[in-house]
Amino acid sequence: MEFGGAITIFLALCLSCMLILIAWKRVKKGRELPPGPTPIPFLGNLLQVRTDATFQSFMKLREKYGSVFTVYMGPRPVVVLCGHEAVKEALVDRADEFSGRGELASVERNFQGHGVALANGDRWRILRRFSLTILRDFGMGKRSIEERIQEEASYLLEEFRKTKGAPIEPTFFLSRTASNVISSVVFGSRFDYEDKQFLNLLRMINESFIEMSTPWAQLYDMYSGIMQYLPGRHNRIYYLLEELKDFIASRVKINEASFDPQNPRDFIDCFLIKMHQDKNNLHTEFNLKNLVLTTLNLFFAGTETVSSTLRYGFLLIMKHPEVEAKIYEEINQVIGPHRLPSVDDRVKMPYTDAVIHEIQRLTDIVPMGIPHNVIRDTHFRGYLLPKGTDVFPLLGSVLKDPKYFRYPDAFYPQHFLDEQGHFKKNEAFVPFSSGKRVCLGEAMARMELFLYFTSILQNFSLRPLVSPADIDVTPQISGFGNIPPTYKLCLVAR
Ligand code: HEM
Repeated sequence: MEFGGAITIFLALCLSCMLILIAWKRVKKGRELPPGPTPIPFLGNLLQVRTDATFQSFMKLREKYGSVFTVYMGPRPVVVLCGHEAVKEALVDRADEFSGRGELASVERNFQGHGVALANGDRWRILRRFSLTILRDFGMGKRSIEERIQEEASYLLEEFRKTKGAPIEPTFFLSRTASNVISSVVFGSRFDYEDKQFLNLLRMINESFIEMSTPWAQLYDMYSGIMQYLPGRHNRIYYLLEELKDFIASRVKINEASFDPQNPRDFIDCFLIKMHQDKNNLHTEFNLKNLVLTTLNLFFAGTETVSSTLRYGFLLIMKHPEVEAKIYEEINQVIGPHRLPSVDDRVKMPYTDAVIHEIQRLTDIVPMGIPHNVIRDTHFRGYLLPKGTDVFPLLGSVLKDPKYFRYPDAFYPQHFLDEQGHFKKNEAFVPFSSGKRVCLGEAMARMELFLYFTSILQNFSLRPLVSPADIDVTPQISGFGNIPPTYKLCLVAR
């Protein structure tokens, strides 16, 4: 045999031994993990988990393995939690252990563990505390968040009036307005609706969310080690997020040029103050990378989640015209036709509040949650989850838990109303997740949803282009996120 041939055989043998060793180690480690379908080397459970219907595949596996099971996403074991009890037991009762952020490979290339949403350990604690304080302070400052939302809602109504009841596709009407609320906090000002750069940013945010939800991204999350070197559609997210990062970095430069530490104008200025205070600390988390990426987290999350929920909410309301009529009646009783709705109206409007909760329940914006991770070896329901195990809390399975919602798949606002028509809380209402990683913008988002829905319905009636019975509310893509279907509607002034 030639020398080259012998070398090839030797290398192939080494590689096989290595693969067998890795697989054996994983199986050995996996013995204490919850049960699940048997993985095969390298492919893991790819045969049982469809990349174009991951959530649905998990729900099928739940029938066989119960509400806590292990699946191998490619070579990586992930513990899946289904239903309210299991998710609450982990994220709330064992909040500290389950507070780590799991791997989201499709965006990790851009973030590399920086920015509040993907950070871990002290970095995450510091950035989270700081971000919450700033959001709260801006909420109480000269112009409250409520006033900012009311102002934005007025601009939106103006845009809707200009359509004169003609059919429109609502995506960018809604993302411009939602984005301007968070923009006024992070950048200190709103964008003009015609601003080309703004529209481009919104298009990139919208596209990234869609891309993150495609089977390509699911596949990338399983095999990032290889796929990052291959050409293809899975790379689109990376380039979109890099462009968004560049934009934020350019805004930081603009702020730096006119920076006055005595007079912080926005989130970026407040972060810059911290950077100046810590400039001699080599290990500080207040650095440029965390500034750009935390701002991107807030800008992205603050734009896409609220606007997708509004967009899906319009569709559900149009499918149920009796619901719109009841909300309008409540608006007339509590607010009347002339003044702007305010957050204080919410407690007096239990029906509207219940409808908004039901919209959020069915929008189910991130059905598989954002991955968590256990920060130390954790005993859970008789199993041992080794430190670093990734965990998927299936928020969609909680929001449709039949033990907590009488008609899990139906649009039924009574899920949130008692017999007397008072608002009724439901502990399985977790669109913002729960525990230590609970959505950082929850208070802002809840205000936005209430003020937008009431302002719009106070002034306009929503008219579909097809009969309500023919409206299809199936998401156009269901992956990491649920992407509402594309549709047109008319807003007819009242
Ligand atoms: C309808 C609107 C919204 C929904 C349904 C929503 C939902 C969520 C969910 C499910 C998570 C993951 C929590 C977890 O890891 O368990 C999350 C995290 C997060 N959200 Fe939201 N969100 C919304 C609006 C917002 C807004 C307006 C902002 C910005 C002000 C925001 C900023 C964030 C951030 C920064 C995180 C990461 C928190 C962390 O890792 O500690 N979100 N959100």
